[in-house]
Amino acid sequence: MKRTKIANALASKELGETITVKGWVRTKRENKNVAFLAVNDGSTIHNIQVVVDVPNFDEEMLKSVTTGAGISVTGTLSPSLGQGQAVEIQATEIVVYGTADPETYPLQKKGHSLEFLRSIAHLRPRTNTFGAVFRVRHAMAYAIHKYFNDKGFAYLHTPVITASDAEGAGAMFQVTTLPLDNPPRREDGTINYEEDFFGKTTNLTVSGQLEGELAAMALSEIYTFGPTFRAENSNTPRHLAEFWMIEPEMAFFDITDNMDLAEDFLKYCVRYALEHCGDDLKFLNDMFDKELIERLKFILNNDFQRLTYTEAIAVLEASGKKWEFPVSWGVDLQAEHERYLVEEHYKKPVILIDYPKEIKAFYMKQNDDGKTVRAMDVLFPRIGEIIGGSQREENYDKLVARMQQVGIKEEDMWWYLDTRRFGSVPHSGFGLGFERLVLFVTGMANIRDVIPFPRTPMNAEF
Ligand code: 4AD
Ligand code: MG
Repeated sequence: MKRTKIANALASKELGETITVKGWVRTKRENKNVAFLAVNDGSTIHNIQVVVDVPNFDEEMLKSVTTGAGISVTGTLSPSLGQGQAVEIQATEIVVYGTADPETYPLQKKGHSLEFLRSIAHLRPRTNTFGAVFRVRHAMAYAIHKYFNDKGFAYLHTPVITASDAEGAGAMFQVTTLPLDNPPRREDGTINYEEDFFGKTTNLTVSGQLEGELAAMALSEIYTFGPTFRAENSNTPRHLAEFWMIEPEMAFFDITDNMDLAEDFLKYCVRYALEHCGDDLKFLNDMFDKELIERLKFILNNDFQRLTYTEAIAVLEASGKKWEFPVSWGVDLQAEHERYLVEEHYKKPVILIDYPKEIKAFYMKQNDDGKTVRAMDVLFPRIGEIIGGSQREENYDKLVARMQQVGIKEEDMWWYLDTRRFGSVPHSGFGLGFERLVLFVTGMANIRDVIPFPRTPMNAEF
C-alpha cells in the first residue's frame, strides 16, 4: 500500500480511511489489552499515535516493537481521544523492518545532553531536537537559493581544490598525493611539488570569492553556496573547520548597495523560517531558548544600525567596560566587542564598515583616507559576525600595490588581475556563514549542533 508521510496523515481530514505510515518508534506504552506507539518519520516534529489491540497481534512480533525499531503500520485513520493530537491510527497490520535492542540502543526515552548526542551524531537526527534543526537547516538552504534565483542571480560552482589563498589568512588544509613519509625533494632539500598531482601546492578553498568575482564580471550577479575549509585551531561555539558559505558577488554594486542586499537577504531568510518552520521553531523555542521567536521577529522589525569602524571604536572606548581584549583604533574586534555593540549598546543588528586596511584582506577597496578599506561586517545578537564582505578594489594599480605590501605574488594571481585589466567595473560582495545563520535561526548555542557531522580540531568522526 502507498505510504502516507506522517506530516500528511496528521493533517488529513479523511477519517475512516485506511492508510500506511512508516517510521521509527519513539515510545511504546502498553498494558494487557492495548499498546500505544508513538511513531515518527522525520516529516514533522510530531509523532503519530498508533493504537494496537494487543490480542489481535502476534505476541513475539509486538515484543520486538521497541523504541528505535523501524516499522510499517497499516490501519484506520481515526479521531484521537488522547490529548495532543487530532488523529491516530487504529492498527490492522504491523510489519517490523528492523528491531533495536533496548539494551544497546542509545536513544532511550530520557532526555540526553547535547554533548552526549554529539558523540552519537549518526543517531541524533532521530531526536526531536535534531530533527527540528536539520529541517530548519534544509529550509534555510532552500530559501537562499530561492532568494537569489528570484533576484536573477546565477548559482556559480567554484572549485573546492585551489592553489590560491583567497583571504590571505594562511589557515589552509593542504591537498597532496605525495607520500608524506618520503616526498620527492629538490637538490636544496625542499619538497618538489612539481611532482605533486597538480604540479604545484594546492589546498582546500577558504572562500569561493575570487572565482566568484571573475564570473560577476560577465554574469553581473552570481552567488556561490558550497563548503569551505579553515585549518584555524579555534575551538569555539562559532567556528568549524568545514563550514558552508554563501557568497554573492555583484557587478556595479557599491558598499551601500552591498549593505542593502545583505540586510534584505538576512531578513528574507528569517521571515522564511518564521513562515515555513513554525512547528520546529516553536519546539526549539520551548525547549532551549524562550526568546527565540521574539528575537527572530525583532530582526524583521528593525533597521540594522550602520556605522563605521572608527565610530564603533569610539562607542567601545566610551562604554567604561573592562575588556578582555583592550580596544583602540586599529585592533581587530573580538566577540566581546561585537556583542556589546549589538546586544547592549544599539540593541539591534549592526553593520560596520570602513575597517583599518591592516586587519582586512588585500582585495578590499581602499578609501581616500589611505588608512581604511570599504569592508563590511554584519553583526548579530548571540552570534557576532554573521557576514563579512566589502566593495572590491577595481583599480589595477592600487590592487597590485596592496598585494605587494602584503606579499602576494602577482604571477600567482594573473587571472584575478586580468579582471582589473579588461573591463574592470565597481563591484561588491559578501560571505554569509551558513551555520551561523542556522545557529541564529534555531537558537542553538553551539555550531556543532547545527551541522550534521561537525569537523573541528581533533574531531573528524563519522
Ligand atoms: O569574513 P570571512 O572570512 O569572509 C570571506 O571569506 C570573504 N571571502 C567573503 C566574501 O566577501 N565573499 O567569512 C565570511 C563568513 C563570516 O562572516 C562567518 O559568518 C563565516 O563566514 N565563517 C565561519 N563560520 C564557521 N566557522 C568558521 N571557522 C568561519 N569562518 C568564517
Ligand atoms: Mg570576517
